[in-house]
Parts: sequence; structure tokens; C-alpha cells
Amino acid sequence: MKAASVLAPPVISDADFQKFAEFFHRKTGIHFEPAKRYFVDKRLVERIQASGAENFRAWFVALRFETDGAEMQRLVNLMTVNETYFFREAYQFDCLVNNMLDEIAARKRPGSRIRIWSIPSSTGEEPYSIAIYLLERWAKIEQYDVEILSSDIDTAVLQAAQRGVYSARSVGQLPKPYLKKYFTPHGNDEWRISRDLVDAVEFSRVNMSDAADTRRFRDIDVIFCRNLLIYFDDLSRRVAAEAMFDALAPGGFMCLGHSESMSRMSSLYTMRRFPDALVYQRPL
Ligand SMILES: C[S@@+](CC[C@H](N)C(=O)[O-])C[C@H]1O[C@@H](n2cnc3c(N)ncnc32)[C@H](O)[C@@H]1O
Repeated sequence: MKAASVLAPPVISDADFQKFAEFFHRKTGIHFEPAKRYFVDKRLVERIQASGAENFRAWFVALRFETDGAEMQRLVNLMTVNETYFFREAYQFDCLVNNMLDEIAARKRPGSRIRIWSIPSSTGEEPYSIAIYLLERWAKIEQYDVEILSSDIDTAVLQAAQRGVYSARSVGQLPKPYLKKYFTPHGNDEWRISRDLVDAVEFSRVNMSDAADTRRFRDIDVIFCRNLLIYFDDLSRRVAAEAMFDALAPGGFMCLGHSESMSRMSSLYTMRRFPDALVYQRPL
């Protein structure tokens, strides 16, 4: 490595940015608007420097030809936006326990499996909120074998989810009785979620834009896919909507984030208006 490259931070040209954005989009579905340029460049510079590469070009060649995917994973972990908190958009969890689950249960025999998939999980607040809702507010929980699966492309957030330690901000919307029941104080103003809840959720790394990852998910009764597709472009959204359609059991439900809508993505789903929320359904 030349001494000058240690001193001067690598420069990301417009053409470099373009090449990188296209590559990253192909791999992850995530689309970077030109307005994201500062955010992206800062992280690219960080990775180029940490890898010891001389410049963007050398780093990018190594990235594309690496065989273990390690640098790509480090990059993904840096580039994703992981904002989340407990009981976010809780009206959909109300709809889950007031309507969706009863409808699903009515089609199954007691004792059968009900599978819920939360993707993206980010640091775990969403799947754990679902688990708390089921335990607290779904009377039939004892009668069915409920599985909660949860996935994200970012391995750092999956580790954090399994560690289960949360800031006061993250648990801010959680009703106090639930905080007392399912968490213990941890260190300075943090909360550790109970081991039982951690064990109740099965976490896995899944890239929603990679059919090799999503095709192992089948017969899912409810998918929560909230605040992921806002980072995708139209084409990747359509691909994701179809992958989730294939993952759902007939009659299974799909919940998107409040600013996301299926209307421009796919016509495969039926829209269902329940008292608490509007959700999508794979026709029976
Ligand atoms: C803003 S968080 C949403 C978390 C949670 N669903 C919620 O609504 O609070 C977005 C998450 O999407 C994940 N993500 C981005 N691209 C992904 C992909 N292609 N496959 C799976 N997860 C992805 C990111 O790692 C990040 O954790």
C-alpha cells in the first residue's frame, strides 16, 4: 500500500457511486437515491480504508470477486437502516389477535401449527412485540402450535436481537405492566428481555431479494413485512411481493408498513379491511 493512500481518504467519483449503487441494488434490492450520496460515500470510504485497499476500484474488484461474502456482509451491515421499536404500528398487532389469527385458526384443527414470519426483524422489537401480543391478548394461544420466525439481511441486528438488550427509547411505547413482566433492568437505563421470549423466536439471515433464501419459507400464515420495501425500487418491490405470495399459505395474511401499499406492486393479493387495520391476503 502506498503511504499517500493512508493519509488521503479515497475519493468516490460519480461513476464509482453509480457502479456501486447498481451492484448493491442487484444484490439486495436496496435503491440509493442521489440524495443518499453522503450517507453512502461515508460508508464506502470507511470500508475501503478498513480493508486496506488503495482506492475504490481495487476495493470494488475485491468485493465482486470475493468467495466468502464477508466484505459484502460487512457492507450490508453498514448500509442498512435499522430503525424500529416495541409496539410500532401496534394497530396491526391488534388486528392480528382480534381478526387474522381467529380466521386462520378456524380453518385448522386445534394442535396444528400456525406460522408467523416477521421480515425484516431488525433488532428484534417487532417479532418480540408479536410474541407479547400473542401471550397477552390471544386467548387461543394454548390450543395451537405457534411458530414465530424472524429474518433480516443484516447479521449485526440479528445478533442484537438474540442478545435482547434494549434502550429506554426502544421500550418507550410498551405498556408498563409488560415491561415489568417480560424484562429485567440491565446496566444503565437498559432492559433485557426474558430468555423465554428470545427462545420463542427463530431468527435467520434472509435476503428478501434472493430467491435462494426466500424459497425455504412456505406455508406461512401471517407475514409482517413492514418498513423494508420503502428502501426498494419498483422492480425489487414486485419481486419481494411475489416471493412473499409464494411463502404464504392460501388464505394467509400480509402486513405492510403504514407508508407502503401493495397497489403498485402486485395484483395477486386481495385487500382485507378489518376494524383495526387494512391487510393483504393470498386468496384461498
Ligand atoms: C427500518 S427496519 C424495519 C424493522 C421493522 N420491520 C419495523 O418496521 O420496525 C429495515 C430493516 O430492513 C432490513 N433489510 C434491508 N434490505 C433487506 C433485504 N434485502 N432483505 C432482508 N432485510 C433487509 C435492514 O437490515 C433493516 O434492519
